[in-house]
Amino acid sequence: MTCFFDDQYSRVLGPMIPSQVHHFDDTVRQVIDTLVIPRGDTFTIGDYGCYNGFSSLEIFGHIISGLKQRYGEDMPVHIIYEDQNNNDYNALIQTVCSNGKVSINHPKVYMSMCPTSFYDQCVPDNTFHLLLCFWSAHYLSRSVLYEDSLFTFPDGTRDEINAVATQAFDEWQQFLLIRANEIKSGGYMMLIVPAEDRERKYGQSRVHLQNMWAAMTSVWRLFRDTDLITECEYKATNYSGYYRSEEELRAPFCDDSSPVVKAGLRIKSLEISHRVPYSMKQMKKTKKENGGKEDIDTSVGRFLWTIRSWTEHIFLQALSSRSQVSRRDIVNTFYDRLLEHLKQQDMSNCGWNNIIAYVVITKK
Ligand SMILES: C[S@@+](CC[C@H](N)C(=O)[O-])C[C@H]1O[C@@H](n2cnc3c(N)ncnc32)[C@H](O)[C@@H]1O
Repeated sequence: MTCFFDDQYSRVLGPMIPSQVHHFDDTVRQVIDTLVIPRGDTFTIGDYGCYNGFSSLEIFGHIISGLKQRYGEDMPVHIIYEDQNNNDYNALIQTVCSNGKVSINHPKVYMSMCPTSFYDQCVPDNTFHLLLCFWSAHYLSRSVLYEDSLFTFPDGTRDEINAVATQAFDEWQQFLLIRANEIKSGGYMMLIVPAEDRERKYGQSRVHLQNMWAAMTSVWRLFRDTDLITECEYKATNYSGYYRSEEELRAPFCDDSSPVVKAGLRIKSLEISHRVPYSMKQMKKTKKENGGKEDIDTSVGRFLWTIRSWTEHIFLQALSSRSQVSRRDIVNTFYDRLLEHLKQQDMSNCGWNNIIAYVVITKK
């Protein structure tokens, strides 16, 4: 899978990171207070699917400060950043380094990069005390196909959804079994993944950003129906992520005889929350004339930039037989039309919400 996350991604999503990692406060305290690191050993921590490392920087700083307080500044810490080999590692270096060193302000903090796929083993057995994987484990290793939809929602057929759900189960299990090798006994993994709330147990919508998927599908269909793109290009436009339900996230852990449980992994906590997207929250403005609030057009524009930063590559890929200029033109027009479409929607509706799962896994 090719990813084209760009600097817009962190600019628009960065501000919401601190409120997300808050969900792991108890685990972070536990890691600092209870993990036993023998004198002279290195504490090893990872960020899988790291992109530019922005979302883990603050939590790493916090954990490393806590550990150095407990064990002394001399304790070596090794941070391993992992992402696919086509990731923009320069963006990572610019975010996490200054003057050729990790910018976390403690001595003996070392860093490595691992240009691999997390569907393979990336480091030797028993490497990590703590592993983070934020907003990445929902990406599947192979592309999926929907005839008339961009994603399972809104119009994936029953057969298409069953096929992707089976693939997602197998790959979640594969991901976990490999991590079970890589994490030390007593270690932790913390994940943030977009999710589905199938029974609407935790809020009123069902799928992460469901109205956005419906809006993108209807505007892209219009492009097909007015011959701006071909039928073939329309069919080739598919998102290769999968939003697992709570049941699907828990499935490999449910049975004592399952390979994941036998490998020593357990779910310590799993919390699902519905959130209005950060970019849609009305922001305070310095100008007084608007009651101190940002107008809806500005919020919708920012919401679209957020969405564009991680969906644009789906459309660019589907248009790969065209010239660069033609691909860019179509994709720019698509997001312009999508913006107009969004401005006509009721954006206060809960169907625009993020549905996010916070998962903590331990290794026995
Ligand atoms: C939405 S970004 C998340 C970036 C960052 N972790 C964050 O929280 O903002 C998803 C990242 O997952 C990476 N990714 C997707 N599939 C992967 C795989 N099989 N192995 C490693 N990284 C993968 C992508 O390259 C991308 O950088």
